[in-house]
Amino acid sequence: MGHGAPHPELTNLPLPKEKFETIAILKQASISAGLLGEMKGIAQTLPNQAMLVNAIVLQEAKDSSEIENIITTQDELYQAMTSEKKNLPASTKEVINYREAIFKGFNIIQKNGILKLKDLLHLQEMIVENDAGIRSIPGTVLRNDKTGEVVYTPPQDKKEIQDLLANFLDHFNRTDTDTSPLVNLAILHHQFESIHPFYDGNGRTGRILNILYLIMNQQLDLPILYLSSFIIDHKEDYHRLLNKTNAHTTWEDWIIFMLKAVEETARNTIQKISNIGDLLEETIHFTRENAPKIYRKELIELLFEQPYSKIDFVTQRIGLERKAAARHLKKMKEIGVLESIKVGRETIYINRKLLEVLK
Ligand SMILES: Nc1ncnc2c1ncn2[C@@H]1O[C@H](COP(=O)(O)OP(=O)(O)OP(=O)(O)O)[C@@H](O)[C@H]1O
Ligand SMILES: [Mg+2]
Repeated sequence: MGHGAPHPELTNLPLPKEKFETIAILKQASISAGLLGEMKGIAQTLPNQAMLVNAIVLQEAKDSSEIENIITTQDELYQAMTSEKKNLPASTKEVINYREAIFKGFNIIQKNGILKLKDLLHLQEMIVENDAGIRSIPGTVLRNDKTGEVVYTPPQDKKEIQDLLANFLDHFNRTDTDTSPLVNLAILHHQFESIHPFYDGNGRTGRILNILYLIMNQQLDLPILYLSSFIIDHKEDYHRLLNKTNAHTTWEDWIIFMLKAVEETARNTIQKISNIGDLLEETIHFTRENAPKIYRKELIELLFEQPYSKIDFVTQRIGLERKAAARHLKKMKEIGVLESIKVGRETIYINRKLLEVLK
């Protein structure tokens, strides 16, 4: 085995049942699953699903990257969505890459129903923008952010990492177990982070795996439940419990933490979906009343899919001529539905109220 004081408890899955079939876990799992089910149902009532997915995925890309201290503002990000990728600041680009990796993963799961090793490697490569792949040079350790003290040494030997990862994927792709998928999610996330197969991007890749797992197990239809915002708010617990579980095998606290993350996030997402739905209705109604000549439902839906819009989006999506598209957007600004800013020679129109709802 590798270096120092490694991963004493890091063994192949499955975990023995007595480690996680406790009353507290079963209770919390059922509460969390209930809320998640409710959220799934409510999401299905929104008329335009792309709208929801676009907005929520971008927010998640921002939050998940923030855990790694890659900080962008909502404005920078959305603005980036309207411009060329190569001109972007590094942090913004990383967030945009992360967003693309989520969609890539989602497509793979929809198409194949499982995640292969090569897909996993591809997702991580998209996130970190290098092809270093699985760690082969020893030396990666996890340190406490503040003190610099080594808190965990993941396996160092490439063969050992590969074997653990193969075992991980085997369990990840197994959707027929009699354990709650939410409990499995917690165990799998812990296992993945403990294997820590890459030099970098393990946290972000692991958080994408979470959403894919929920979709594979029919807990969600769309990639819209993200734990990163919860993790940011409870970052110390997240790290402490990952570590404590490694060191002392106290699974209960970790699993409950993750189940609570699902519960709270589902609750917030339900609220968010309902706010988006209300705002959409309100905007449709208001535009019909105040600018009946340019009112088009597709245009309003577009402004909810792309809270930062421009003339090109409207011509491509709705098939209006440039002039007409410009006129529509301008009018929407006049009646106060949109704001506009100049970026270079281009005018970008902003659905500010939606951005507020998404925050
Ligand atoms: N003690 C620990 N045991 C296992 N995994 C840990 C531990 N502490 C932290 N981690 C995981 O390692 C991740 C950080 O690893 P890495 O820097 O490779 O990922 P990242 O995606 O670049 O960063 P981040 O997750 O901070 O955004 C954390 O997010 C967490 O998931
Ligand atoms: Mg990192």
